[in-house]
Amino acid sequence: MIRSVVRGYGAALPKRVVPNKELESIVETSDEWIVQRTGIRQRYIAGEGETTASLGEQAARAALENAGLTPDDIDLVLVATSTPDNTFPATAVNIQNRLGMTHGYAFDLQAVCSGFVYAVATADLHIRGGMAKRVLVIGAETFSRILDWKDRTTCVLFGDGAGALVLEGQESEGTIADRGVLTAHLRSDGTHKEKLYVDGGPSTTGTVGHLRMEGREVFKHAVGMITDVIEAAFAATDTTAEDLDWLVPHQANRRIIDGSAKKLGIPPEKVVVTVDLHGNTSAASIPLALSVAAGDGRIKQGDLVMLEAMGGGFTWGALLLRW
Ligand code: ACO
Repeated sequence: MIRSVVRGYGAALPKRVVPNKELESIVETSDEWIVQRTGIRQRYIAGEGETTASLGEQAARAALENAGLTPDDIDLVLVATSTPDNTFPATAVNIQNRLGMTHGYAFDLQAVCSGFVYAVATADLHIRGGMAKRVLVIGAETFSRILDWKDRTTCVLFGDGAGALVLEGQESEGTIADRGVLTAHLRSDGTHKEKLYVDGGPSTTGTVGHLRMEGREVFKHAVGMITDVIEAAFAATDTTAEDLDWLVPHQANRRIIDGSAKKLGIPPEKVVVTVDLHGNTSAASIPLALSVAAGDGRIKQGDLVMLEAMGGGFTWGALLLRW
């Protein structure tokens, strides 16, 4: 059977780093509060000329270089984002153009913080369905531009950035020893809409709007939802936490990450944490974390890696792959 195998990875961050201390002059907060409640120490904030598409393009170019490929080799550009450059055309088509591609196809996918898990799962279907041989899957965000910078309960949590994977269809044995995507489990439940949403949009206010969140409510549901889909991924592949080499979670909050790993019996040394460096970059957080951990040699070819995320909607999902 055909499996969607990771052939390359890459990431991009804005030039400007904003440590917690700097936020103390914007809202009533403290480095100590932010670190203790979230584990975040700094985030990157996009400046003039830096957009979701420009960061996504940079991450895509890095992933292509890592894969030893060029834009000519790509059939589909799939971008997970909730902060597109324009309402339309899709940021994916913008990036396709920036890469000089006039062949193939490109589209955006919107599942907020779960966007990258949804996007890898979708790319996998396009590859296994025969529509694309190689897919550039990008998570790119500029959440700084939809934050209410007067609201200390949200503005300290998020950051900007982008990450990308090149997925390639490869003939495989059809066992869990194969490299590539092994199983994906996606969920959503719109009854939780009011707990995490943006209070604007083209069809309602005609404005972009600002992120609104009932943090405590999100927190309350997060660990249960995350562990539920991870258990589903283990069950579908007849694997357990012991088989796992790495858990690469969406980087929202250190306490959610630690709580989920503990509940699943995954030891801290197998969990990739970058929330301290990047803050919550929504759909970009998982590919940014993958790039850090693959780049420093922790994630190696053949490793069993679980991706998981939960976010606005609510949406949530888990995906097991062999690197
Ligand atoms: N600085 C200082 N004090 C603050 C800040 C701040 N930035 N923000 C809130 N506070 C205050 C509150 O006003 C409150 O004060 P009060 O007791 O006088 O009313 C106190 O701190 C405690 O507030 P809580 O909201 O109860 O704090 P909590 O421990 O729940 O932490 C947090 C808040 C970090 C938002 C947490 O609820 C959380 O992480 N929730 C999950 C949400 C999340 O991660 N969302 C990301 C998007 S969804 C996703 O990606 C999964």
